[in-house]
Formats: sequence, C-alpha cells, structure tokens
Amino acid sequence: MVSLQLEGRTVVVTGAGQGQGAAETRLLVDAGARVIATDLAAEMPAGLASVPSPSVSNGALVYRQLDVADAAGWSDLASWIRSQGWQVDGLVNNAGITQRSRLLDASVVDLQRVYEVNVAGSLLGIQALTPVMGPGASIVNVGSVAGLTAHYPVAYTASKWALRGLSQVAALELGPREIRVNAVHPGFIETPMTAGARPEFRQATLAETPLGRTGSVEEVAAVVLFLLSPLSSFVTGAEIPVDGGQSSHGGAKSVSDALR
Ligand SMILES: NC(=O)c1ccc[n+]([C@@H]2O[C@H](COP(=O)([O-])OP(=O)(O)OC[C@H]3O[C@@H](n4cnc5c(N)ncnc54)[C@H](O)[C@@H]3O)[C@@H](O)[C@H]2O)c1
Repeated sequence: MVSLQLEGRTVVVTGAGQGQGAAETRLLVDAGARVIATDLAAEMPAGLASVPSPSVSNGALVYRQLDVADAAGWSDLASWIRSQGWQVDGLVNNAGITQRSRLLDASVVDLQRVYEVNVAGSLLGIQALTPVMGPGASIVNVGSVAGLTAHYPVAYTASKWALRGLSQVAALELGPREIRVNAVHPGFIETPMTAGARPEFRQATLAETPLGRTGSVEEVAAVVLFLLSPLSSFVTGAEIPVDGGQSSHGGAKSVSDALR
C-alpha cells in the first residue's frame, strides 16, 4: 500500500474555517498530520467540527486565530510553534478573498485589499515559517484559474497572477534548502465563496469546462495532500489546475461543441 507519510508532520493551513481550507484540514488530519488550522475567528469555526477525532485518525488538530495580512500575527504563530518544540513540514496558503469589480470600476483600494490577503498574506506566511521548516518541507499556494486566464473580476485576477510569480520565486529561492513550493489552481469549486455566484456565471463556467461540472472541496484537498506528501518529492515550481479542464483548451471548447 502506498503511504502518504504525513504521520509526525506538522502542517499549517490558512483560511481553514470553511470551504477548501476546512476540507484540506480534514484530509490532512485523516492522513496522520498534526494540522495547525488558522482563520480570522477567535474560536474554532463550526466548519472544522467534522474533522476526524484523534481516536479515529493518527493526526491531530490545533486551531489558532490568524489574519494572514497581519505580519505580527504570523510572527506570533512562528514563536508559538517554536515554543511547542515543533517544526513546520507543510504550509497551505489557502486563505483568499474575492472582489468582483470590473475593469472600469475597480479602485486602487479594491486592488490593495485583495493583494493584501491573496498575495502579501502568502508572502508573510512563507517569510515567517521558512525559519521553522527543515529539508523536505512543502508549501502549497492556492491560486485560481483566474490566475491562468483573463477572468473578468480584475483585482482578484491580478492578485492570483501575482501569486503565481510569488510561487515561482519561492520555489527558486527555497530549493537549495530542500523546501518545495507549488501552486494549485482551482476552477469552480462549491464553497461558501461561490455559493452566491449568479446562475449566469455558473452556467457560463460549466459551458467552458470539459468535465461539465463544478468541483468539490475534496477534489482540491486531494491534490494539496499529494503536494505535501513525499510522493511529490521531486515536484517544485509546478502549477496544477484542479478545474475540470477549464483552463486547458484556450477557448477551443465552444468550437469543439459547435461541431459535435
Ligand atoms: N471556490 C472556488 O471556486 C475557488 C476557485 C478558485 C480559487 N479559489 C481560492 O481557493 C481558496 C479558498 O477558497 P474558498 O472557496 O474555500 O473560500 P471561502 O470564502 O469559502 O473560505 C475562505 C476562508 O478564508 C478565510 N479568510 C479570508 N480572509 C482571511 C484573512 N485575511 N486571514 C485569514 N483567513 C482569511 C475566511 O474566513 C474563510 O474561512 C481562496 O484562495 C480562493 O481564492 C476558490
């Protein structure tokens, strides 16, 4: 049997209170990791209540409040991890916010706010936790198909393209320390973030998706688990779309569909 070997490994997940972050936390605990789940709320969010208890898995769950845009919060987290005598073997920069203003309406403030969370939040995490990581550690940045294409919400799209740049530089710079850095790019995933999406958005996205359906949080979590595990030990600087093929066809799907 293939072992994902996360037993004894400590992984920090940001934005873990709901959606993809909660699913990643559940799967990582189930795979035997000690997960430090973090989010904005002071108390453990209800979305983490269904995480398997240590009695049914080898892993463990600890919750800490963290705003990823807060450098002091990251530094407190790193000090607390040190005080526990732990090192960090994995970091999932999952926390993200969306911002739906379009090109001619977007303000500088819109850009700054999404950048602060989606890009600076990930940079701060890497800066704070790299000193408590050893060789073999793995960082996963959660981008988006918006970072692979010209998605219409301009501030969000620009932030996810920027996150790709950050990921590539981090892979380059941290390689000599044997720390791997990769990105996953989810397509339309059913989470609280997309729950309010207009029906037209859902329909148009499905029309661009070869698999013809939306994705689940578990399908993103599975790829994150792979990237954190030693099964991906020679993979760094990679970007994996988890999007049912949405970003793969460069606009050719409508042509293919028209000729069926
Ligand atoms: N759902 C999708 O279709 C989709 C598609 C592509 C990419 N993504 C990306 O996946 C990631 C997770 O998205 P989701 O759909 O689970 O979103 P979500 O809104 O359901 O959950 C995001 C979590 O991040 C937390 N968060 C927000 N700002 C934070 C901050 N400053 N500090 C700490 N935590 C913060 C929220 O409290 C929330 O628990 C995000 O980076 C998002 O951009 C989502």
